[in-house]
Amino acid sequence: MKEKIENLRKNYLEDSKNVVNLKDLEELRIKYLSKSGLLSSLLTLLKDAPKEDKPLFGKELNILKAELEQNYELLKQEKEKESFLNSLTNEKIDVTLPATTFNFGSIHPLNRVIKEVEDLFVGNGFTIETGPELETDYYNFELMGLPKGHPARSMQDSFYITQNTLLRTHTSPVQARTMEKQAPNPIKIICPGKTYRRDNDDATHSHQFMQIEGLVVDKGITFSNLLYYLEQLASHIFPNVLGVRLRPSYFPFTEPSVEVDVKFLRNGEIKYIEILGAGMVSPEVLRKGGYDPKIYSGFAFGVGVERITMLKYGIDNIKNFYLNDTRFLKQFKGE
Ligand code: PHE
Repeated sequence: MKEKIENLRKNYLEDSKNVVNLKDLEELRIKYLSKSGLLSSLLTLLKDAPKEDKPLFGKELNILKAELEQNYELLKQEKEKESFLNSLTNEKIDVTLPATTFNFGSIHPLNRVIKEVEDLFVGNGFTIETGPELETDYYNFELMGLPKGHPARSMQDSFYITQNTLLRTHTSPVQARTMEKQAPNPIKIICPGKTYRRDNDDATHSHQFMQIEGLVVDKGITFSNLLYYLEQLASHIFPNVLGVRLRPSYFPFTEPSVEVDVKFLRNGEIKYIEILGAGMVSPEVLRKGGYDPKIYSGFAFGVGVERITMLKYGIDNIKNFYLNDTRFLKQFKGE
């Protein structure tokens, strides 16, 4: 037994000299000091030793155990320190390497233009109103001067959900909803939002598009008030515009009605490009909204957001707005 104790001590000291790193140290611990290690197996041998030798061997074994554990602890501290110092020298950070770049998103061009229009009108005392996209026939058509069977309904080929509900064909029903709930003291609103029409699938049309409706109702509103805002809008969105031109038109909810063109100089030539529809709110629409047309008057306009955004940025296909191709969207970064 005595010999076994001496051998274990000798072997442990020998092995401990070969410990280079923390991994070797762990192997040393497992070999000698773990539950199934050599020291434990010596301790189990003790019970087979002659009775009279037990106290002596027991003492010797305890001394050996304390010795090995102390040696192991010291070695552990030493190796941990060494490994820490090694990591300090080996794991250097090269601050001159190029930084990781992140892909930042950008505001969608349609939202950017909506925001620009909102900024202009909010700055002029307008508020922003919204309404449901799933609209009733009543608000979308009836209150807008388009009773059932009116031929102008076909100008807005529609997605009906039931006989009396449809995806709104324009943002104009928000006019009716606002007049219904608000007294004209005065009404000055713009209503941006999605609209839907069963339309041709071509480069400039989509079955879903965005509109911004504008509505002002008060005492003494005249056509010149409308013209003022149309000119403001045109020059706000198109910094190089030369003016606006009005052409007589027809909308069931305005009287008189106009199509509005913006005037540009392109390659030395004057060009007019249609951007929106507008007019004085018809007496019938005012009356249906609860206002006496002898006291109140108003104007309204409706502008297609895709249309003015395409013109503003020279985009030739409306599909670009909906494909979410980041190569397209990235071009509108940080303006
Ligand atoms: N609602 C019309 C359309 O979608 C646009 C419009 C709005 C015209 C307001 C005049 C006044 O075609």
